[in-house]
Amino acid sequence: MSDHAQTPVRFRADVLAVPAYRQGATPTEPGYKLSSNENPFAPLPGVLEAMTGAFDINRYAAAAMPELRAEIGAEFGVDPAHVHLAAGSVAILYQLVQAAAAAGDSYLYAWPSFEAYPGLGLASGAEPVGVPLTAEAEHDLDAMAEAITERTRVILLCSPNNPTGPALRRADFERFMARVPADTLVVLDEAYREFVTDPEAVRGEDVLAAHPNLVVLRTFSKAYGLAGLRIGYGVGDPAIFRAAASVAIPLSVTGIAELAARASLTPEARAAHAERVAVLVERRDRLAAALRELGLAVPDAQGNFVWIPEAEQGGVPDVLALAAEFAERGTLVRPFAARGLRISVGEEESLPVIIDLVRAHLAQRGGVA
Ligand SMILES: Cc1ncc(COP(=O)(O)O)c(C=O)c1O
Repeated sequence: MSDHAQTPVRFRADVLAVPAYRQGATPTEPGYKLSSNENPFAPLPGVLEAMTGAFDINRYAAAAMPELRAEIGAEFGVDPAHVHLAAGSVAILYQLVQAAAAAGDSYLYAWPSFEAYPGLGLASGAEPVGVPLTAEAEHDLDAMAEAITERTRVILLCSPNNPTGPALRRADFERFMARVPADTLVVLDEAYREFVTDPEAVRGEDVLAAHPNLVVLRTFSKAYGLAGLRIGYGVGDPAIFRAAASVAIPLSVTGIAELAARASLTPEARAAHAERVAVLVERRDRLAAALRELGLAVPDAQGNFVWIPEAEQGGVPDVLALAAEFAERGTLVRPFAARGLRISVGEEESLPVIIDLVRAHLAQRGGVA
């Protein structure tokens, strides 16, 4: 029984059985927030300006947002009907699982991966099936293909994988797709796509046309730094998005988010964002290298975060203790109990703090295999 089972009204037992969300340790001194894979840069001046421009917040936004959808579609070589907007790409994940998988059906994903995945089917009663990652912290695509059953309605692929870092390689993706029934929805979640530097990584725009059962998800939250505005998108077959829209909460994408997203796609804004992404990628690679020098088996980091595995995978013996030590220094990171610890790439000044802290932790506790 969970701690919020005592409700004054009758609720679904399966919903009440879900453990309540527990906030991580609260920092006791000023430090860095490296726990949510956010972008440390302030919004671009042009984006802020666009948001404060003439907009009637007493009115609902025009839901279709054709210009923004056309601008996104152009990047994929598709027309606006193939582009679906939502208040964050996480909203599209919910919509797709709800639209495709009912009670008795299931949906598949690698695990550990994005923490929202296991809860996507709760409302509809669809069963979440997490397939363990390989020892290299990558999707085990063979095991995932073998886990597909008659009941599988959706397969979620996270590239690069949050929280561990590696991206799917295109050849592996294609081999996997060849084993997926043509009527099963595959979602390629590319929330961190802009940070990927592996030339062999799959890229949604390259593979979409060949797979009518594929939806590619992207977001303005990470590389574009608009996490607080809540806007993300999917690209794929318009019929898939008509079904998604049927279960979507109407009018969720705000006009301000639309203006910010459009201002983020001008040539000048794209160039400025590309520069910032390059800074973060260099910082990420430096951080991963420094942690590896300490003897930690940090997997290939292709997002804006690095992963320290638990001891058996070449990392630290107690990730919760390490996260608590970070919190004592005012810095928030994301531990996954008995699995590992994810550190987002943030401010330059946070790097020596991270490295000193991990070094001191290892010196005190040991733990590197
Ligand atoms: C893999 C992945 N997908 C989707 C999201 C959701 O992003 P948003 O809803 O902000 O677009 C996140 C957020 O952390 C993520 O890590």
